[in-house]
Amino acid sequence: MKDVYILAIESSCDETSVSIIKNGHDDIATIINSQIDVHTKYGGVVPEVASRLHLENITMVIDECLEKANMKLEDMDAFACTYAPGLLGSLLVGVEATKVLSFIYKKPFIAVNHMMGHICANMIGNDLKYPLLSLIVSGGHTDLILMESETKFNYLGQTLDDAIGEAYDKVARILDLPYPGGPNVEKYASMGKPTYNMPQILNDDSFNFSFSGIKSHVNNLAHNAEQRKEEINKYNLACSFQNCVTNHLVDKTKKALLKYDLKTLLISGGVASNSFIRNSLKEMCDSINVTMHMPDKKYCTDNAAMIGAAAYILYKNKQFSKLDVNAKSNVQLKSM
Ligand code: KG4
Ligand code: ZN
Repeated sequence: MKDVYILAIESSCDETSVSIIKNGHDDIATIINSQIDVHTKYGGVVPEVASRLHLENITMVIDECLEKANMKLEDMDAFACTYAPGLLGSLLVGVEATKVLSFIYKKPFIAVNHMMGHICANMIGNDLKYPLLSLIVSGGHTDLILMESETKFNYLGQTLDDAIGEAYDKVARILDLPYPGGPNVEKYASMGKPTYNMPQILNDDSFNFSFSGIKSHVNNLAHNAEQRKEEINKYNLACSFQNCVTNHLVDKTKKALLKYDLKTLLISGGVASNSFIRNSLKEMCDSINVTMHMPDKKYCTDNAAMIGAAAYILYKNKQFSKLDVNAKSNVQLKSM
């Protein structure tokens, strides 16, 4: 079969990323232009600023990617992008750029759900066996999805309130650590001990998660200490928080693996780049003879390679999009 090259664009939040992916599996070239330096000044992503920067950068990032791959737009078999979920103004830039390329070069336009992208980060350089359990841990999602195949998504559980990445970012703010919060909380946690008592979170039979209670608990501890003019130990508080949320992830994921007798776990999303979480889930999987796949850390946070990998599955299934598809801030992943 002829090799299939897809140029993919990711612009759902604060990274402008372009990749060329061969056969959904090989990362030929990936460029990630991060806006972190700009948003750090504001302590978080400012949507209007994000979309303006995507617009300024998109053509440059496309050119850079083509140059790195030593390929031309004419060489592509399809053009793909994230169309949902994410920041509307940011998504629009990637969607419109991709539609234009598809129209000019007369090649299929493939609109990809960002969450399918996160899952498919596990397909880069890797072959998977189904059925499997997929755990997505990102800034907007905490999902457990049972997959009978690469196109079937059966949601077993989701967060009932905040996503885990959101909780990391809020705890970072409480501890006065700079944006992006997650990696900084991880750094502090690695230097601390779990000395603070943390609440039990959603210890029930469902496969849902909850992170807002623990975030409030950390907030109360910090405020009470401030009122009593006591110093909190940021390292130990970060460590106690990280241990608590990790146990919650491990417990729920283990329950789902055992209940559905699944032998493979995939993890993905920005929070899946956290070494403590990776190691804890891996240890749990080893203890019950489950094979765990985790993307290379650079494919956990937002990138276009994962969108190219997902787009290849849509390409194989001829799931092409019309040029009137629009960006959407929230769309749940559906089976094909
Ligand atoms: O998947 P992602 O790049 O964007 C979304 O789709 O949301 O995830 C971003 C989230 C942020 O909340 C960020 O703080 C978190 O992932 N994150 C981390 C780490 N690296 C990124 N959280 C904990 N530990 C990390 N090392
Ligand atoms: Zn993401």
